[in-house]
Amino acid sequence: MKGIILAGGHGTRLYPLTRITSKQLLPIYDRPMIFYPLQVLLMAGIKEILIIVAPERAGDFLNLLGSGKNFGAKFTYEIQDKPEGIAQAFIIGADFIGDDSVALILGDNIFEDDLSETIRNFKKGGKIFIREVSDPERFGVVKLDKLGKPQRIIEKPKKFISSYAITGLYVFDNRVVKIAENLKPSKRGELEITDIQARYLKMGELTVHTIRGEWIDTGTFDSLLKASNWARRQAKSKASGRPI
Ligand code: TTP
Repeated sequence: MKGIILAGGHGTRLYPLTRITSKQLLPIYDRPMIFYPLQVLLMAGIKEILIIVAPERAGDFLNLLGSGKNFGAKFTYEIQDKPEGIAQAFIIGADFIGDDSVALILGDNIFEDDLSETIRNFKKGGKIFIREVSDPERFGVVKLDKLGKPQRIIEKPKKFISSYAITGLYVFDNRVVKIAENLKPSKRGELEITDIQARYLKMGELTVHTIRGEWIDTGTFDSLLKASNWARRQAKSKASGRPI
């Protein structure tokens, strides 16, 4: 399985901080933000990782992460000229993905749970990682049936349909490249990751994994601070140190 970290975007909600550098390089306590999603992929045993960045920030990422040798992995870089949607990652990464399946993680998502087994055990179809939240209108959400199977997916629902948010980690088999290439931009002009999930759902091949522990989407000042406080507690409580 290949890995992709999507680390472009404007980060407008974090201005003026993101006028200096990319959101995904801002500090979360003692580490640059991208170390946290990177750790999720590395812990799952993924060694080939594509990092997709905005053109004006590419140098910063290279300086920090380099070839990947220091992390026991191989990093490749691609530019996303404009933030035209999360699903565009599979088009930009088509050659990199080749014939493999792929785990895509957003560069600003922090997961406390250890998801390595679930990622390693993936075989076919699509898998999303979900978490109950109190503000589902901010996220892509999934409605589950009585057996916990996904029924419906909606991006930022205005009316309540479910409190299960879809987090920024997605695992798909190789068909995702073709599906992404055939997507049409949404009303907001983006290639939507929820449209890809909806396709796998329609094929009856979408599975969900409910995550435990903290999940922080660090796009706002408050969530940035929350993430730093969480990371500080983690750092102090782990006597043996952290993987990266
Ligand atoms: P967002 O937080 O939705 O967007 P943003 O980072 O540009 O922030 P803001 O809304 O404050 O302007 O993006 C979620 C993550 O996905 C973030 O890590 C950036 C990344 N992303 C891309 O790299 N390219 C894209 O086209 C999109 C939509 C998101």
